[in-house]
Amino acid sequence: MKTIESLEEMRALRDTLHAEGKKNVLVPTMGALHEGHANLLRLGREQAGEDGCLIASVFVNPTQFDRPDDLESYPRTLEADKTICEAEGVDVLFAPTAEEMYSEGHSIAVSENSLSSLLCGASREGHFEGVCTVVLKLFMISGCDIAIFGKKDYQQLAIIKRMVGDLNLPVKIIGAETVREESRLARSSRNENLSAKDRKDAAIIYQSLLALYSSCLDGMRDCEVLCQSFREALESSCPQAKIDYIEIVDKNTLQKVAEADENSLAACAVFFGETRLIDNLELVL
Ligand code: PAF
Repeated sequence: MKTIESLEEMRALRDTLHAEGKKNVLVPTMGALHEGHANLLRLGREQAGEDGCLIASVFVNPTQFDRPDDLESYPRTLEADKTICEAEGVDVLFAPTAEEMYSEGHSIAVSENSLSSLLCGASREGHFEGVCTVVLKLFMISGCDIAIFGKKDYQQLAIIKRMVGDLNLPVKIIGAETVREESRLARSSRNENLSAKDRKDAAIIYQSLLALYSSCLDGMRDCEVLCQSFREALESSCPQAKIDYIEIVDKNTLQKVAEADENSLAACAVFFGETRLIDNLELVL
């Protein structure tokens, strides 16, 4: 595995891959890799095939953090990340510096103006603008044909698909299923910041999503009632948890719906202390 830090070197590799007609698959990450990322990398390896090139980027993108303390405390574990990338058959680990990625006085950003203000966007101002901007940069620098993102960040995936469509980008986007811990808590780099008790208790998030789904299957489709039951279940078993939102939305527009149907998604964000956890479930009715 080759590690590349400079944009110039990454662009040179992009041009060589293009000239040789080799498939180029990108898995963008912010590092602190865990089993969820390993799953994305495995999918990436499959997509790239033996001859293609699998690139994993590791870049803690400052423009998508709305709180400086969150950016500062974000785990940085490049050496361990390298080991995981190597084990998953990554060809190139691209780890640029913030100085190279964002030139001084940079003043252009990509804003998506429909999906970005909903769900997580309501409480994370500028977050998705930062994500779109860095993802577009990574697409341009790597020249990838395919990019892989996790479905845990469902809104991010939907916004990136929208960006690719609206800007006619020649990149195929693949969404990978959420990987869960033994307790079925969605894997996230942020889980490392939880106390042992909170990490155990946070299993209630997915259990409550499953209970919501089960009520739907039993015929309850009123979203207010479904979300209220979710709140009650979570608050009664975990008084320390603070629900940021629980919503049932249309899978494509991410707009709230009054009645759940086969196009609905239940999505939530819950704080355990300072740690904000997200999860979602597609309601296959
Ligand atoms: O999902 C993430 O880790 C980040 O938002 C991404 C897509 C790598 C952009 O920084």
